[in-house]
Amino acid sequence: MEWANDRELNASILRVLPVTEYDQNQWYDNLCRDHSRIVFAVYGVDIDAHIGNCGFYHIDYLHRRAEFWTLIGDKSCWGKGYGKEIVRFMLDYGFDTLNLNRIYLNVRLDHHPAVRLYETTGFQREGILKEQYYIQGKYVDVLVMAALKKDYHAEK
Ligand SMILES: CC(C)(COP(=O)(O)OP(=O)(O)OC[C@H]1O[C@@H](n2cnc3c(N)ncnc32)[C@H](O)[C@@H]1OP(=O)(O)O)[C@@H](O)C(=O)NCCC(=O)NCCS
Repeated sequence: MEWANDRELNASILRVLPVTEYDQNQWYDNLCRDHSRIVFAVYGVDIDAHIGNCGFYHIDYLHRRAEFWTLIGDKSCWGKGYGKEIVRFMLDYGFDTLNLNRIYLNVRLDHHPAVRLYETTGFQREGILKEQYYIQGKYVDVLVMAALKKDYHAEK
């Protein structure tokens, strides 16, 4: 809940409204029943704590695609390589375990660390959704990026 209501984190992950304890519990309960979503807790080995989450939304088992997201909530863990490890793990898990063909994501165009992370881990830029969100007083452009299974395996 602390991460979900942090102003800086919220702006990074394109979230606007505050999250209450009720919302949080609903989210968790629904997650356990909903096969179109999967969430992993990210454990920081160096500080022996739960530092963030990552997962897939909109898992489509017919078209074999899903939307990837991640959030390292503990800011002291940024820039230490966790993001890269999360993306690599989720691409392997998505393509090889869930048998996905396409993994896509939405990221703020001005979120340079995240865009750079995704570019260096196999995601391609696909297009820009102009002024897709209104966050903290201004419209925000969103970059759609995706990784395809055939490209990912060719590069490995
Ligand atoms: C964005 C986020 C996932 C990056 O994870 P991280 O663990 O900090 O990133 P890493 O240490 O693994 O760095 C991976 C790459 O990201 C890029 N990067 C990371 N921090 C950066 C920064 N401050 N400036 C520029 N590039 C940066 C670099 O390319 C880096 O690779 P390199 O060190 O080999 O050059 C993490 O900061 C986070 O969860 N932030 C809050 C929530 C969020 O923004 N989620 C993503 C929304 S799309």
